[in-house]
Order: sequence, then C-alpha cells, then structure tokens
Amino acid sequence: MNKDKVIIFDTTLRDGEQALMSSLSVDQKLRIARQLAKLKVDVIEAGFPVSSPGDFESVATIAKEIKGPVICGLARTVEKDILACAKAVKFAERPRIHTFIGTSAIHTEKKLRKTEEEILDIVKFYVKLARKHCDNVEFSAEDAGRTGVDFLCKIVESAITAGATTINIPDTVGYTIPEYFGSIFDALINRVPNIDKAILSVHCHDDLGMATANSLTAVAHGARQVECAINGIGERAGNAALEEIVMALKVRNDLFGVTSDVDTKEIIRTSKLVRDICNMPVQPNKAVVGSNAFSHSSGIHQDGVLKAKKTYEIMTPQSVGLKENRMNLTGRSGSHMVKARLLELGYNENEFDMQTFYDRFKALADKKGHVYDDDLVTLMESKSKEDLEDTYVLEYLNVSSGKGTIPTATARISVGGKMFQEAACGDGAVDAATKAIDRIAGYKLTVEKYHLDAVTEGREALGRVSIIAKAVEGVFTGSGTSTDIVEASALAYMDIINKIARMKKFKRKLPVEKEFL
Ligand code: KIV
Ligand code: ZN
Repeated sequence: MNKDKVIIFDTTLRDGEQALMSSLSVDQKLRIARQLAKLKVDVIEAGFPVSSPGDFESVATIAKEIKGPVICGLARTVEKDILACAKAVKFAERPRIHTFIGTSAIHTEKKLRKTEEEILDIVKFYVKLARKHCDNVEFSAEDAGRTGVDFLCKIVESAITAGATTINIPDTVGYTIPEYFGSIFDALINRVPNIDKAILSVHCHDDLGMATANSLTAVAHGARQVECAINGIGERAGNAALEEIVMALKVRNDLFGVTSDVDTKEIIRTSKLVRDICNMPVQPNKAVVGSNAFSHSSGIHQDGVLKAKKTYEIMTPQSVGLKENRMNLTGRSGSHMVKARLLELGYNENEFDMQTFYDRFKALADKKGHVYDDDLVTLMESKSKEDLEDTYVLEYLNVSSGKGTIPTATARISVGGKMFQEAACGDGAVDAATKAIDRIAGYKLTVEKYHLDAVTEGREALGRVSIIAKAVEGVFTGSGTSTDIVEASALAYMDIINKIARMKKFKRKLPVEKEFL
C-alpha cells in the first residue's frame, strides 16, 4: 500500500441512498456507478444486499458491470447479511464485504443488549465468516466516535486478527470534534499491536458540520481511506462530501502530503448526475459544487479576480470540471467588471462612453438586482422606448390536461398588432403550451433549467417560473408570474422569446457556452 495515497471510498449508493425519500432503481444506481468509475474512486459501496431484493440486484449488477473500483456491499454481523453480501459482490473483479456492529455503550447496552465480551465474540466470528467468502473484508465499529478508547482498541485488534483488511472508524452521529478524533487514531496506531496489518479508514457524518474537518484530521493522524458521498448526501445531515475531501487533499497538499487518484475534472459532472437522479438539490453556497462556488459578486472581488484570479480563487473552476468562473453583474459590480463583460460580448471600447454607460447600468441593477448579458446588450443598443417593447404578446392561452387525456394547448399571440393562433399537444401542460408558442414564434429553444417558486403563501399562491434556455442566438433567462403555473411558465417562455427577438433586432448574439449548475 502506497502510504502517500488516500483510498477514496464512495458511499453515495449506500449511506447516501439511505437518506433519499424513495430508493433508487437498479438502472439509476448503475448510471451513478458508471460515473463514479469515471471519477476514478477506489471503492464503490453499492448497497446493502440483504435489505431488499432490489438492493441485492443493484449490488450484483454493479459488481458484474463496473470494472476498476472495488465493489463493496454492506452487511451487519449477521449470517444472512454476510451470505447475501458475498453472493451479490462475488461477480466483481475486486469484491469487498463490509460488516459492522455498534460498539459504543449506548449501542451495545440499549440497541444490542450485549456485553463487551459478547460483542468481541460476534466481531471475531463474523469477520472470519466474511473472510471465508471474500479476501477483502472491511470492519466498522459503528459509533466509534462515542466508543471508549480501551474497548475500541480491543475490538480493532480482534477484527484484524479475525481477518479484516480495512478497519473503519465511523463518527456515526457526527458528534466528535477534530482534536479528539485525531487522538483516537493516535491511540489505535500506538496501542493496537497488529494495526499495520490493516488499512485505517474514517467515516464521518455532518450533524455538527464537522464531517470534512474530522475526516481530514483522521487522515493527518494516519487514516488512509476516507468514506464519503457525492454532494455530502447521507443519513440526517449527510456524510463527508467527497468533493470537499478530494479538493482539500489536492489544494492543501502542502499540509497533508497525500493524494487521491480521483479525476477531479469529473467532479461537477458527477455532482449534477447525483443531484438529478437522487432529486436532491445542492445548496448554492455548497463548497466546490454549489452554483456560487466559483462566482464572484462583490465589486472588490471582481476587480481582484480580473487582475489575478488567485486573489479570490484557491482552486480553478477547470480543476473540478467547470469551463470558467462566473462574475455576477449586480449593483455591487464596479465599472471595470462591466467594461470587461461588454468587451467579452463583442463591443469595442470606442463604441461606448464607460461613465455614461455605467450610470445607466447602476440604475438598471438597482431596479433588477441581477443584470444578465441580454440586459447589457439591450441597455447598449436601445435607442428609443419602442426598442424595449415586446414583439410577441400572449393574448390567449387555453390548456387542457389531466389523467387519461393528451395535454393540448392553444395559444394566441399578437405580433406587431397581427394575431396568430396555433395548437399543440405535449408531454404535459407546460410542454404543450410552449410548443404552441414555438409554432408561432418559430425559434428553436432548449430548456436547460426550469424552476417554480411560490411567491405568496396559501392555495392561491402566486407562482414564479424561471427558465434558462439555449437558442442559436445565445443563452437566455426568462421569468413569469401568475396564480396559474402553466400561465406563469408560458409568460417566462414568452420573456425569452422577446429577448431573442430583441437580440435579432440589434443584430447581436450572446455567448452560447455557459455553465448550467
Ligand atoms: O455511519 C455509520 O456508522 C455507518 C456504518 C455502517 C459504517 O454508516
Ligand atoms: Zn454512515
């Protein structure tokens, strides 16, 4: 084992999946597992085979198909669990059985109702049984963070003697703090005589927001496997986030002196896939993968980044698989930033007077908050009030949908005073409405993001729909508000159509290459 390498054990499909409202299908798990293999994690914990026939099938399917990482299944220290797990992982190129039992007083006395001696016997017996079926066996002392150190040392020694090749020290309830956790690893390394026969692993939960800090402290104190999940999903407050662990080891290699084999450029792709398949949104300010993780809003920061990225970026967006950072144009943006964006949009310095333009920009930003590329172009190009008027006005919309019906919409739109009407069927009411609008306006749009918010409370709440869509003319954002969500969606879509029409009138294109987080 290379002492400079940390094994990345991904538990998105086991601990992560445990926390979802509904379990993942075999196909969904397989799609995530394929991406985890591309991310080059070392171990994929694919599930808990005895827990359900579906989970058994998921683990077996992943074991058969995924080459490269070790494929691991979870099992309690119970015969039927270990046998089911052995059966599911046996198809893998490199199988692992992961067995565990609670070791803290609260677990042994209240949950298991066993003495410490009984727990030691169970560990010896079932680790041996697991080793009979698989050469690669991991043992976890569940709730190790709250287990007395003397008993933990005895447990770990027994598990290694019985054949465990990896010893995992979980902080199951996210209770520990870095300094104390580091001392547990020191004790294990100094006091367990056979500790060099196994790899020490760490598994932290985030109940007090310290999962990453505790995991990294364990690495600094000798752990060489970290168990973590994409986007930090997992029981309750979640598990240590894989992206945080991997990027911290990379960015602060000067401190840790160890590396992982993870292909960090696959991080964003993996994060989005897990977010979408698991239906678990990522908070915008989430470290590494949040939509704001590489965006700069304050004028001082934007000015610094324009001069030298390292002033406010400790890692590059490219290192995690993003094309570029994002500068949010708001009332806080300085004139340097606004000018840089205008140049990126293809304007020449001699086409505008920066001071006058900046004053107009500030007035708009005060009104709107966020100023997008199409707002900048409109501000630059509009000479008269008419330039700001909408070309397309939605005059009438009738949608019929429901169980057992084919969703159909009829839209009537006035274009420069002339009325046009079209009908369309769709995959749902919103799809039918936007298709009818497309037939009239004739633009080809790909909706990249659709978001619905309630802006007021109660049954008659106003719904605000925000859409981001790609067209040949660029990437556009639109919003619409109504008590009827289909109408709000149609209005947001019309907002985009009118922005495209304006860009065409101004003979301008917006950048199409944008990140959608
Ligand atoms: O948090 C925990 O203790 C676990 C074990 C099963 C490793 O998930
Ligand atoms: Zn856990």
